[in-house]
Amino acid sequence: MKNFKRYLITSALPYANGPIHIGHLAGVYVPSDIYTRYLRMKGVDVISICGSDEHGVPITMKARKEGVPPHVIVDRYHAINKKAFEDFGISFDIYSRTSNKVHYDTASEIFRTLYDKGEFTEKSTDQYYDEEAGCFLADRYITGTCPHCGNENAYGDQCEKCGTSLSPNDLINPHSTVSGSKPVLKETLHWYLPLDKYEPWLRKWILDDHKEWKTNVYGQCKSWLDQGLQPRAVSRDLDWGIPVPVEGAEGKVLYVWFDAPIGYISATKELTPDWEKYWKDKDTRMIHFIGKDNIVFHCIIFPAILNAEGSFILPDNVPANEFLNLENDKISTSRNWAVWLHEYLEDFPGKQDVLRYTLCANAPETKDNDFTWKDFQARNNNELVAILGNFVNRTLVLTNNYYGGEVPKRGVTDQNDNNTLNEIARLKETIEASIEAFRFREALKEAMNLARLGNKYLADAEPWKVIKTDPERVKTIMNISLQITANLTIVFEPFLPFSMEKLCGWINLRGMKWNNAGSSDLLEPGHLINKPELLFDKIEDQEINTQIEKLLLTKRANEAAEARVAPAKAPVTFDDFSRMDIRTATILEAEKVPKTTKLLKLKIDTGLDIRTIVSGIAEHYEPEKIIGKQISIIANLEPRKIKGIESQGMILMAEDKDGKLVMVTPSEKVSNGSTIK
Ligand code: 2FM
Ligand code: ZN
Repeated sequence: MKNFKRYLITSALPYANGPIHIGHLAGVYVPSDIYTRYLRMKGVDVISICGSDEHGVPITMKARKEGVPPHVIVDRYHAINKKAFEDFGISFDIYSRTSNKVHYDTASEIFRTLYDKGEFTEKSTDQYYDEEAGCFLADRYITGTCPHCGNENAYGDQCEKCGTSLSPNDLINPHSTVSGSKPVLKETLHWYLPLDKYEPWLRKWILDDHKEWKTNVYGQCKSWLDQGLQPRAVSRDLDWGIPVPVEGAEGKVLYVWFDAPIGYISATKELTPDWEKYWKDKDTRMIHFIGKDNIVFHCIIFPAILNAEGSFILPDNVPANEFLNLENDKISTSRNWAVWLHEYLEDFPGKQDVLRYTLCANAPETKDNDFTWKDFQARNNNELVAILGNFVNRTLVLTNNYYGGEVPKRGVTDQNDNNTLNEIARLKETIEASIEAFRFREALKEAMNLARLGNKYLADAEPWKVIKTDPERVKTIMNISLQITANLTIVFEPFLPFSMEKLCGWINLRGMKWNNAGSSDLLEPGHLINKPELLFDKIEDQEINTQIEKLLLTKRANEAAEARVAPAKAPVTFDDFSRMDIRTATILEAEKVPKTTKLLKLKIDTGLDIRTIVSGIAEHYEPEKIIGKQISIIANLEPRKIKGIESQGMILMAEDKDGKLVMVTPSEKVSNGSTIK
């Protein structure tokens, strides 16, 4: 591989519309942090860039849901997420935001450069417009009936019931979620990036020159390219975003996927005046850490933009991960099916590394993977506590007991000692090779193998027995165990930064570089170590059961919500509603309709008149018990004959998911004929 002078690590900018959960960490931020920390320890020039993605429909949807302006949403979640990353030791050099001026300027400038170079095509198309709200509708703001499964609440881009991708024109009976009105098609002009034009270049750049990319990434790119690329609109009719910087573009903003990746550039500008060397020098190796849903944007669209602009480097690798599930179910913000970082820290204070460890050991590197609380507990108790913690603790306690904390001198070594020392160096090489290949799970396993090696060494050498017969020999054993411990602080630092910081304090060893790992002489004889504490604590069943119960409650609430609520109906106008004559009335008489099981014949006082209504409530109410009850009726429903009796209206009933019917009664007695509005 080419020798690069510096590294530019980017991590997908999360939308600032909600808090960060374990899926984000496992997919993007733990891997990018491991890689960055490893590079820092190698002593190379590296910067790690991230920030909030503050534009696009995800933000405006959330704002609309809460009834607040979008800036309130992004301000809130930018602060929450910045803190969550810091709390978990995700060590970005900058966590910026795309609402910053430098980003507006940078994104506008790049758009303008492409525009001036004639890279965009302009096209007018018909798009749905909400005449009542006076705005064009993003796909997510249009709902209607799915032509495939009949779901009445399908979105303009997807039916969440049958999973089909849709375009707004596919929807039957579309309506706007902004005003409820039926949208009309209206012509609108947009700027398009002609991806079809760049296709031959992209094919060569990815399919020929980057065969080393991960199979999932390469495969997804190939499938996009094989389907043939289409021009892609890079502007939108929205009132939240960066205005399109050309004349005649009032009311139009840059498409969020045009501006967001440029956020990496603006954040670098904000970080250092020397930003150009990271973005424009071919000796920089740029690596994008992302989740699989972002592959097309980082491997095809953003490189096409950078290439069209002409002065920027392209990513050398895009090690995207697949998705993490939670207890066998897709992580979902709207269904609250997630482990939120801030909640985790409340329940497991100080245990950031346990989560980092579990998420890396189980990372969805090649396929979707599952996080379970039982696995989390097992990883902690059987690996972190029983292997790593146990080895370190035994070594440090024995050193304190035998030598008052002073590192003893290694004497004559035997075959097992030498094999063990050689194995330290070999493991360092293996860990390094795995990290370089973005195989972090494997790297972590090998790091744990170093602790396993230590445990086996101690178990075989039995210093606690030998001390009675051959104290000189124990000095060698403890020296080797201490060298293993010192090596552990290096190879585990990228994975478990908090714990290794503690361990470095206990063994009094600071400033180690990656290439110090593998050495058998990191701790000199006579070096003093401190008294240790426990590196990891056991997690009890009770703590895990609490988490599982919490999820069970969420599951039940979701099931209830999904089962109980009938799908929303298409909106009606206020005029439609006003035509209904809904009033209060009182039941005067009630009797069963002969030869039926469900029907009651009621005589009611509507305030306007005394009339008869036939109602299908006989299985829910006994006639004699409802006399005198005040109810609500639709008084102007056209009369119709039921079992030969003319029914002059309808009683309003609430029906639950089990079909139970309950009369809708005013909460206080009012005069009959009061209108309900
Ligand atoms: O999928 C997402 O959460 C996007 N906000 C990622 C953007 S990555 C980059 F382009 F900024
Ligand atoms: Zn459907």
